[in-house]
Amino acid sequence: MTQPVDLPAWQALGQHFQASSKTTLRDLFAADNGRFDQFQLNAAGLFLDYSKNHITKETTSLLVQLADQSQLQNKIEAMFSGDVVNPTEGRPALHTALRNRSDKPVLVDGSDVMPGINNVIDRMRAFSDRVRNGEWKGHTGQAITDVVNIGIGGSDLGPLMACEALDAFAHDRLKLHFVSNVDGSHLASTIKHLNPQSTLFIIASKTFTTQETLANANSAKQWFLESDAEQGDVAKHFVALSTNTERVTEFGIDSVNMFEFWDWVGGRYSLWSAIGLPVMLCIGAERFVQFLEGAHAMDEHFRTAPLASNMPVTMALLTIWYNNFHSAHSHLIAPYDQYLHRFPAYLQQLTMESNGKSVHVDGSPISCDTGPIVWGEPGTNGQHAYFQLVHQGTHIIPTDFILPMESLNPIGNHHELLMANCFAQSEALMMGKNSEELTLEMQSAGAGPDEIDRLTGHRTFAGNRPSNTIMMQRLDARALGALIACYEHKVFVESAIWDINPFDQWGVELGKQLASAIQTELAGGKSVTGHDASTNGLINRTLKMRNLHA
Ligand code: F6P
Repeated sequence: MTQPVDLPAWQALGQHFQASSKTTLRDLFAADNGRFDQFQLNAAGLFLDYSKNHITKETTSLLVQLADQSQLQNKIEAMFSGDVVNPTEGRPALHTALRNRSDKPVLVDGSDVMPGINNVIDRMRAFSDRVRNGEWKGHTGQAITDVVNIGIGGSDLGPLMACEALDAFAHDRLKLHFVSNVDGSHLASTIKHLNPQSTLFIIASKTFTTQETLANANSAKQWFLESDAEQGDVAKHFVALSTNTERVTEFGIDSVNMFEFWDWVGGRYSLWSAIGLPVMLCIGAERFVQFLEGAHAMDEHFRTAPLASNMPVTMALLTIWYNNFHSAHSHLIAPYDQYLHRFPAYLQQLTMESNGKSVHVDGSPISCDTGPIVWGEPGTNGQHAYFQLVHQGTHIIPTDFILPMESLNPIGNHHELLMANCFAQSEALMMGKNSEELTLEMQSAGAGPDEIDRLTGHRTFAGNRPSNTIMMQRLDARALGALIACYEHKVFVESAIWDINPFDQWGVELGKQLASAIQTELAGGKSVTGHDASTNGLINRTLKMRNLHA
C-alpha cells in the first residue's frame, strides 16, 4: 500500500512548505488584496472565509492533488452508497441516509433503508407532538414538564449540544436535562428538583450495554418507583432509543416505547437518528426536519461540489496542511455564540474518537501524525482565559471562529460588540503587532525610550497565526444541521487522506474492561495484588479508607 507520505502531492507539499515557510500572512495580504474574494466559499447557508491561512494558489492546488491521489472522490461515494467503510466492525456508515430528504433510495445489502428511517421519524413525531401538547400524561394524569436524557458519548453530546444550540426555539413547558456521568452527583443533582409524576426519562444507548448509562437508568427507575409509582407506570415515564430491543425489554421498557436505529449509525454520528428525540421534543418536529434538511444540503454540496470549492474538503485539507506540514497539532474551536457553548465538546468526540488512530485501514502502522487535539470555549469568554497563549504562546493553534450575523436575542449593542470581538481576534492573530507599531503606540501614550525598550519583548505580537471564520445568517435549526454535517465531512476527508478508519473506536475498550474488573474487586472488599504496584496501591488504599469510614 502507498503510504500517504509517499504520494507525489505529499512530497511536493513538503517542498512547498520549505520554500514558503518564511512568507508571513502579512506578506500574503500585502501582495494580493484579492485574497478575501479568492479564498472564500458558500455552502448550505454557511460562509467560510479561509483567506487568513498560510496558503497560496499553489498550496491549495497541491492539497487538492493530495485529495485526488488519496482517491477521495471514490471514498466519498463509497460512504454515501452504503459500502462497508467501517471494515473493523464490518459496517457501512450511513448517517447521511438519516437526513436524506430526497426521494432517492439508499441500499444496504440490497434493501432500501429509507422506509425504515422515515417510519421512525414518523413515530418520533407522533410521540413528541403528544408530549409537547400535553396529551401524553404521566401516571397521575399530569402533563410532562421535565425530560431527562440518560446516555453518554454520542448518546449524550450530540442531543445536549443541539438542545443548547437551539434553546431560543425551545418549548415553553418542557425542560430538557442530560445525565451522562456515572458519578452519582450528576443524577442526584438533576432529579433533586424534579417531580417524578411529570418527568419523562429517555434512556439513550445504541448498544444498551454501556455501564454508565445502565447504572444511571437503573437508579432513575428506582427513584421513580420509590415515589408513589408502580411497575406498570414505567411505560408512561420511560422510553428507550437503541438498536438493541432485547436489552431494552430486559430493562423493563416495552418495545412499543422504543425508538430504534441501526448498527450502521455510528454513536458519534447518531444525532440524526432516534438519538435526536430530545432535540425534537425541545424544538418540535417541524424544526427537527429543518435541522435534517440543513445537514442534507451540506451532504449534497459535499458529494457534488468540485474538491477545490468544497467546504468540508477545504477545511480538512487546511487541517492536514497544519497538522502534517506545520507541526501544529492543536485545533481551537471558538464559537462566538453562547448557544454553541457545548459545540467544542461535541466536536471533541466527533474528531478525536474518529481520527485518534495509529494504524491504516489495513492495520499497518501509520507513518504520519493523525487527528489533532480539538478544544475550545465560546468567545468572548475565551479571550479572558486562554487566548493569551493563542496570541503569544509558543504553539501555533489554527482557530475556527464561528459567528452568526444576526442575534436571536438583540439587546442594545451586544451583538455588535460580539462581532467586533470576533473579527478583532482573527485580525490580531494574523497581523500581530511589531516593534515599530508598538513604539509609535507607546510614544503617543507618553512612554519614554527606556520604558519602551523594557516592554517591547512583552508587548509585541508575532502574529502570523492562521484562522478560518465561519458565518451564517442566524443560528437556527437549518444552519446548525449544515454546520454539524460540515464538520462530520471534514473529519471524514482527513481520515480518507490519512487512510484510517474514522468509524471505529477500539481505543475506548481497554479502559472499559479494566474498570469492570476493578469494580468487582472494589465490591469484593479484599486487598488486591494482581495489578501494577500503583494500581494495587490505589485500590488497597481506597478499601482501607472505606473500612475506616464504614
Ligand atoms: O465511548 C465509546 C462509545 O462507544 C461511543 O462511541 C458511544 O457514543 C458511547 O460509547 C455510548 O455508547 P452507547 O450509545 O452504546 O451507550
